[in-house]
Amino acid sequence: MPEEKLSKIVSLCRRRGFIFGGSEIYGGLSSIWDYGPLGAIVKKRIKDIWWNEYVEKREDIVGLDSAIIMHQDVFVASGHLEGFVDFLLDCPQCKKRERLDKLEKIDKVTYRCSNCGFCIDTSKYRPRKFNLMLKTNISATEDQPQIAYLRPETAQGIFTNFINVINTTHKKLPFGIAQIGKAFRNEVTGGNFIFRMKEFEQMEIEYFTKPEEAEKFYHWWVEGRYNFYIDKVGIKKENLRLRQHSKDELAHYVRACTDVEYNFPFGWSELEGIADRGDYDLTRHSQVSKKDFYYYDDQTGKKFIPYVIEPSAGVDRTFFAVICDAYTEEIVKGRVRVVLKIHPRLAPYKVAIFPLLKNKPQLVELAKKIFYDIKDKMAAVYDDTAAIGKLYRRQDEIGTPFCVTVDVESLSDRKVTVRDRDSMVQQRVEIDRVYEYLRERLELT
Ligand code: GAP
Repeated sequence: MPEEKLSKIVSLCRRRGFIFGGSEIYGGLSSIWDYGPLGAIVKKRIKDIWWNEYVEKREDIVGLDSAIIMHQDVFVASGHLEGFVDFLLDCPQCKKRERLDKLEKIDKVTYRCSNCGFCIDTSKYRPRKFNLMLKTNISATEDQPQIAYLRPETAQGIFTNFINVINTTHKKLPFGIAQIGKAFRNEVTGGNFIFRMKEFEQMEIEYFTKPEEAEKFYHWWVEGRYNFYIDKVGIKKENLRLRQHSKDELAHYVRACTDVEYNFPFGWSELEGIADRGDYDLTRHSQVSKKDFYYYDDQTGKKFIPYVIEPSAGVDRTFFAVICDAYTEEIVKGRVRVVLKIHPRLAPYKVAIFPLLKNKPQLVELAKKIFYDIKDKMAAVYDDTAAIGKLYRRQDEIGTPFCVTVDVESLSDRKVTVRDRDSMVQQRVEIDRVYEYLRERLELT
């Protein structure tokens, strides 16, 4: 059943132009995906909501857009070159390759294959180490390569610009630097659609605090980020939970970490991690770059390296959770109606406008006029490429909250039929009032 739901979601995303396979016409690339016309809109809306909430509305957080390609010393300092590895184990029986940390451990050396159940003795079948960093050569000549790396998290661009931001914005603690952007990891185990990708996007904040205030802000961010998914993204509360990491899950420099998890069709999995990273990152960059990362507190006269709280969210995973959460099947007159009950704030279009009959020029003309009147004020789409039933089905599947139909009566009574996506209730509304009506209804949701 869960697999069936996942395959229906994948098929809807493809069929309606949300997500396509990357380089598909050449056979594709594993764990690499492209966003289609509608996917690109929803993804942008997610990023805009986040940016608006944390950069535009706040005085204590500034934005950044740093480069994807970074100097290799950045990752010497961050520890990624040495420690950003997955241990992988190939099952000798069914050949499935899996991450060691995801397998059931039977005893000190034995793990159970999740596919065929074979007990793999790791003293005989050794796990292999894979570094997840993507390397590139930025030199013009092949014989004198200059190695650089694609960032595996946007966070490093924030840490490396810490001094620049302080010097140009004169921010005082506590303050944050926020960034949305691509990150790259050579993930060797893919699957589960866009959950684990090699190229993905993150929305990260590094929130710098005085050491003694770090714990307070950590709890504040955990709560705030959990509520963000419910209040701003519209995800159902029952499909979200917080999971605190146990001490043995934490890297030595992470003081605490909590994941926001979503109940995906394949089970509860990470949507975002909120970590208290102490002063590890700034200290490491200070040591390797030999630059001064100290913060001077002019009230106390003390100099210290700030602590950092890091709420790190995935754009693609939020997108995926939004689609899973909204995907609904209902039986209407004995037939299955697929409807994406996405929050109107995220819907690609707020309204779709059609003429009931496309071979009646007066209806087409009036429907187009309504469309052009609305489209500059609200995301709208015009469609007359199918019969009305099919047009409704299309809009239900892409989550359009309202459909407006122009029929023959509209020509005389100057009214149109407005259909609500979720209730399917239809109402006649005066043409001159349609935009106002939609705006009011959309503000109510
Ligand atoms: N700077 C901290 C950091 O990068 P992370 O837990 O590795 O922490 C943060 O990543 C978020 O980025 C995850 O919660 C997830 O939403 C997203 N993410 C990480 N790896 C991903 C991948 N391979 N594909 C899609 N999203 C990913």
